[in-house]
Amino acid sequence: MSDLESILSFATDIASQAGDLIVSMRAGNQLQHDFKDGIELVTNADISADKLISEAIRATHPDHQILAEESNPDINSIALDDTPVWVVDPIDGTVNFAHHHQMVAVSIAYVVKGKIQVAVVYNPFLAEMFTAIRHVGAWMNDQPIQCSKTKELNRAIFATGFPYDKSKQLPTLIKRLHDMLTVCADVRRLGSAALDICWVAIGRLDAYYETVSPWDCAAAWLIAKESGAKCGYFIPPENNQRHELHSENLLISTPALFEPIKKVLKPNED
Ligand code: IPD
Ligand code: CA
Ligand code: CA
Repeated sequence: MSDLESILSFATDIASQAGDLIVSMRAGNQLQHDFKDGIELVTNADISADKLISEAIRATHPDHQILAEESNPDINSIALDDTPVWVVDPIDGTVNFAHHHQMVAVSIAYVVKGKIQVAVVYNPFLAEMFTAIRHVGAWMNDQPIQCSKTKELNRAIFATGFPYDKSKQLPTLIKRLHDMLTVCADVRRLGSAALDICWVAIGRLDAYYETVSPWDCAAAWLIAKESGAKCGYFIPPENNQRHELHSENLLISTPALFEPIKKVLKPNED
């Protein structure tokens, strides 16, 4: 087994344990709700799953860094050097989770020098484990996956999302949605950025765009890239940031749709 294969095996194991934990907490009606800054829903299951994953990483890899939504969301505390970084979203799709919907995932990425090497996105409610190893491939439940071959905008189904804080740029987001809906076949708002991107990777969707946080997209980014999708930005990162944890203005789509969608989302750019 290569080093990255053992990292993947460890990551799928802890994602699976965290998945079992959140399923059983929900089934046992043990959920308590809170709101970060009075707006963003978080449950005790988010905190417990983050603890389970972070403790397992610390026990096995005490010298590695962890960027995790609930226990260490401060990206400035992380060095993107050759000390590996684990990027963890214990529950992506918390609103779905708390409302007993099924689009919920545990997301874990393993990053070295700002490049995602290994990725796991696990939906325990649908028993779907998406995985990837850089330059090796992407899989769902161990079967290789590929993005769709859709080329025409008017046949494209896309997903996007909206920030919790609706005072943030809502008119711009609605204009983008309007412009995309005008030229594409339809939209889905599934409520989990990680799964939106994995669904592009497996061809259930043709495109996804949104501004999110690094833990929402890091693992799914590699899964999409290894499935043949094009991963990038519809507005380039400032200062030409080259690391793969940049998570603003993300655009992930089939290769043929990337440039046409970029023009729709940012019509004044070349
Ligand atoms: C959210 C989901 C959602 C996206 C939000 C994220 P959370 O993550 O990925 O689809 O639109 O921007 O914050 O809060 O459920 O971990
Ligand atoms: Ca998330
Ligand atoms: Ca989360």
